[in-house]
Amino acid sequence: MYVVLIGRPGVGKGTQAQRLVDELGLSRISTGEMLRETIRSGGEGNQKIAECIDGGNLATDDMIMELVENRLGEPEFENSCLFDGIPRTVAQAEALDELLRRRNTKIDVAVEVSADADELVARILERAKIENRADDNLKAIRQRMDVYTRSTEPILEYYRERGVLRSVDGLGTRDEVFDRIRSCIVVR
Ligand code: AP5
Ligand code: MG
Repeated sequence: MYVVLIGRPGVGKGTQAQRLVDELGLSRISTGEMLRETIRSGGEGNQKIAECIDGGNLATDDMIMELVENRLGEPEFENSCLFDGIPRTVAQAEALDELLRRRNTKIDVAVEVSADADELVARILERAKIENRADDNLKAIRQRMDVYTRSTEPILEYYRERGVLRSVDGLGTRDEVFDRIRSCIVVR
């Protein structure tokens, strides 16, 4: 089962992805987490990555796809993967399809979790009081929202055309949103 979770910053991709991992036993790739880990560990290209993330801009498609390709090669992804935060551009969606095609598999479902940007800004500012993400400030949040509209929203059409898009409401309690997403996923 290969599942893509799509949604604006703060809509709950990470929260719901972790629960789907725990309850359905899916393996997860979160490109945001991977990039933050590269920055923390001072890994290759960390300064450039930090510049992108801190300003609320996307890392390059090539760099992201290299990370994802390496990760997908690990045995835990042989039968499943939940993609959290990838793809974020049509070019990434195409590259991901190609990667999966080479492994004789494909995206089964792309779940869009949607919510009004104002509510999400409030959620992220709440999180900023507890966690210490460099991109959880108003300027970077606005940029992340704009980048989503400009670069990521077009992938909804990409998946709609391929007949795998499902959309759920991201407002409500964490449990309510989880149940909506869960109902889109059929585990084989
Ligand atoms: P990424 O880490 O993916 O961040 P994001 O998309 O901005 O989203 P967030 O992680 O902020 O939100 P989320 O949807 O996971 O929500 P969460 O569960 O945390 O990417 C960061 C950056 O990395 C990008 O800007 C880019 O620079 C780079 N990057 C990553 N992937 C890339 C790619 N593929 N290509 C290029 N660049 C890439 O929830 C938010 C808060 O709300 C939490 O505090 C949570 O507890 C709370 N919450 C969750 N659900 C609810 C609910 N139902 N009700 C109330 N509160 C809730
Ligand atoms: Mg997240």
